[in-house]
Amino acid sequence: MRIADRHTGSQSRADLYSTGPNSRSMASNAWRSMFSHAVGAVKRPAFCSRSAFTRGLKTVTLIPGDGIGPEISVAVMKIFEAAKTPIQWEERKVTAIQGPGGRWIIPPDCKESMDRNLIGLKGPLKTPIAAGHPSMNLLLRKTFDLYANVRPCVSIEGYKTPYTDVDLVTIRENTEGEYSGIEHIIVDGVVQSIKLITEDASRRIAEYAFEYARNNQRNSVTAVHKANIMRMSDGLFLRKCREVAENFKDIKFTEMYLDTVCLNMVQDPTQFDVLVMPNLYGDILSDLCAGLIGGLGVTPSGNIGANGVAIFESVHGTAPDIAGLDLANPTALLLSAVMMLRHMGMHDYGQRIETACFNTIRDKKVLTGDLGGKSKCSEFTEEICNRVKDTD
Ligand SMILES: NC(=O)c1ccc[n+]([C@@H]2O[C@H](COP(=O)([O-])OP(=O)(O)OC[C@H]3O[C@@H](n4cnc5c(N)ncnc54)[C@H](O)[C@@H]3O)[C@@H](O)[C@H]2O)c1
Repeated sequence: MRIADRHTGSQSRADLYSTGPNSRSMASNAWRSMFSHAVGAVKRPAFCSRSAFTRGLKTVTLIPGDGIGPEISVAVMKIFEAAKTPIQWEERKVTAIQGPGGRWIIPPDCKESMDRNLIGLKGPLKTPIAAGHPSMNLLLRKTFDLYANVRPCVSIEGYKTPYTDVDLVTIRENTEGEYSGIEHIIVDGVVQSIKLITEDASRRIAEYAFEYARNNQRNSVTAVHKANIMRMSDGLFLRKCREVAENFKDIKFTEMYLDTVCLNMVQDPTQFDVLVMPNLYGDILSDLCAGLIGGLGVTPSGNIGANGVAIFESVHGTAPDIAGLDLANPTALLLSAVMMLRHMGMHDYGQRIETACFNTIRDKKVLTGDLGGKSKCSEFTEEICNRVKDTD
């Protein structure tokens, strides 16, 4: 059965489209409050007036992906259905295809679906080594100019790690830096890779980070850099952060070297709030931070683009070793979907689903193997569904 054939719609609630209470105030205790605020609205959508958003049911492009992607996507859909979330899914496959002139593109029906719906939810995509095409995730980022990767990392009650009070958000510039893909051979045995930093992209990500902090009642933004070594490129990035900080006097601004952040992060992550950084640093530091709360299997993520486009995704891989065995943990994709709901202004649905997920993990009775339990993906999903239905 195609995933898109499953219909999860129900009547929308009138208050969904208003600016509801911030997610911090909706939370029922301090710990949950922290998480809710962390995975809170990424940004108020600037596109609420679009026709797709004025009808009751909203359409989201679903890219189930490869490996365990379809299984965890079904899990999310079942839980959304249990919560009667007014979302309908438009399933699209993503593979790299060659367009006119040999340029690598995503399938036109996926591009068209995202252009229309603006919001997407994505499972993991495999990029075969030596496939000859760029990483699928990179291609999606480029196609939709997904310039900000947002990853809230907050300790999950009941899931023990060496850290208990992590509550931070990494915001990674997603489009340039070392990942610009500009590499060449100078002479045999010597290659050069260009780190591209532009004023526009640096200002854009800095503005995004400060706006995120303000919209989510966060207190400080730290710019992470190596401007002592890369004086021109990171220097430019840092200058733009400083300039933008001038317009956000209510948010404390600090700047720190990447190496110092790594050191301090593993010593005491509670000192950090929102961190903004160029692409490569963000790639590495966001995984490090995910490790503090239990890894990629429980960490949500959102990619925010220009013109109202946003794709929310689990950041773990396709887990080919357990694909098709009903063993996958759907938490990361589910929490990414919660982030998506908040981004769309559906705080109430997001809160109910998030609470059901966290309570399931906290109670430790029905957990997948990676969380230390023995349950199947379908049993974990069923447990969350039952808890969500109880709050209806
Ligand atoms: N965001 C993405 O689309 C993304 C990210 C990383 C890797 N990949 C792709 O995934 C493929 C496999 O990569 P990999 O093996 O390096 O990393 P992986 O994340 O797929 O797997 C690493 C380990 O974590 C486990 N794991 C991962 N997600 C899990 C989940 N939700 N529940 C339970 N266990 C889980 C796997 O079983 C495996 O043991 C590659 O083709 C790679 O390109 C995609």
